[in-house]
Amino acid sequence: MNVVDTDYRFYPADNKADDFYREVVNGLSRFPRRIPPKYFYDEKGAALFESICEQPEYYPTATEFAILREYADEIATHTGTGQVLIEPGCGSCEKVRTLLDAVRPLAYVPVDISCEQLQSAASEIAEDYAWLDVHAVCTDITGTLELPGIFGKEDRLVFYPGSSIGNFEPEDAVRFLAGLAQTAGAGGRLLIGIDLEKDHQILNAAYNDANGVTAEFNLNLLQRINRELDANFDIDAFDHHAFYNSVAGRIEMHLISTRRQTVDIDGHSFEFSAGDSIHTENSYKYSIESFRTLAADAGYKTVDCWTDPGHLFGLYLLEVTTA
Ligand code: AVI
Repeated sequence: MNVVDTDYRFYPADNKADDFYREVVNGLSRFPRRIPPKYFYDEKGAALFESICEQPEYYPTATEFAILREYADEIATHTGTGQVLIEPGCGSCEKVRTLLDAVRPLAYVPVDISCEQLQSAASEIAEDYAWLDVHAVCTDITGTLELPGIFGKEDRLVFYPGSSIGNFEPEDAVRFLAGLAQTAGAGGRLLIGIDLEKDHQILNAAYNDANGVTAEFNLNLLQRINRELDANFDIDAFDHHAFYNSVAGRIEMHLISTRRQTVDIDGHSFEFSAGDSIHTENSYKYSIESFRTLAADAGYKTVDCWTDPGHLFGLYLLEVTTA
C-alpha cells in the first residue's frame, strides 16, 4: 500500500498483465472473435474516452450531468449524509463533484482499472474537498470489490454513473449489480446511470462521431495490443464499425479487417480475410421499466428515477433488498 497523505490513500492494482494476454489470445482464437471492452482503458484509451464524452453527438455525459445537477439535493433527501461513497469505474471523478456537497459523505472510495488517471483524479478531489477522506483503489471492478480494511459497518452509497452497466451482457449485469449489492450491504443504496432506448439515428451518431474520436478509441485497442503484447497489427488495415442492433437492443462496436492479413501476437498467428470482425463492445440500452426489472433480479428495489426532458437518460436510486 502506498500512503500518500492522511486524507488521500492509494491502493495499487492487483490485476495481472497475463490476464490481458490470455483474454486477447483466447478471444481471437474463437468465432466470433471478441476482446473484452475493459481493455480499452489504458492511459491513452482513458484519455480518448474523456474526449468521446465531449463530442456533441455523445449525449449521455452532458445529459447525465444535467440530471445530477438538477436533482442532487433531492437525491440527498433520500440518501441522507455521512455514508461511505464508493464509485466503481470512477474515470476522471468529475460526476461525483455534483453530489459531494449535497450528500456530504464520510469518505469517498474511487475505484478504477486505469491507475495513472485514478491517482491524479483522486488527489484532485482530495485537494478540492479538504473535509473529505479519499481512499483510491486501483483494481478491475469486474472482480470482487474489496474495500480498504479501515471500513466497517458505516452506511454505504455506491455511485455507478455513465451507463457502463450497458457494457455488460444482461445476465452479467445482474451478476455485477448483485456484487455491488454485497458491497453496499443490506439497506445500502446504488445510484446508477442508464442509457435509455431512443431514436436509432441518435444512437448511431453517438458512436460514430464526426471527429472520429470513437474510431480512434476503438483502434487504440489494437495499438495497445501491439505495445503491450508484442503484436504487429497494421492499424491502417482495420476500420471502426458501430451500429445499433435493434433485435438485441444494443450498440455493437467492431474492428473490421480491410484486407487479407496475418497478425502475430507473441508467437500466435491469426488469419483475417477482408470483412472479418473483432467484436470489441456492446452497449445495451434499456427502457425505464426493463432496467427496473433487471435491478429487481439483482436484489434491489427502485427508490426513485430521474430523467431529462427528452428521456434520453435515466438516473436510478436503488436500495438493496438482499445482500
Ligand atoms: C463506458 N461506456 C458506457 C461507453 C458506452 O457508451 O457504452 C463506452 C463507449 N464506447 C464507445 N463510446 C463510448
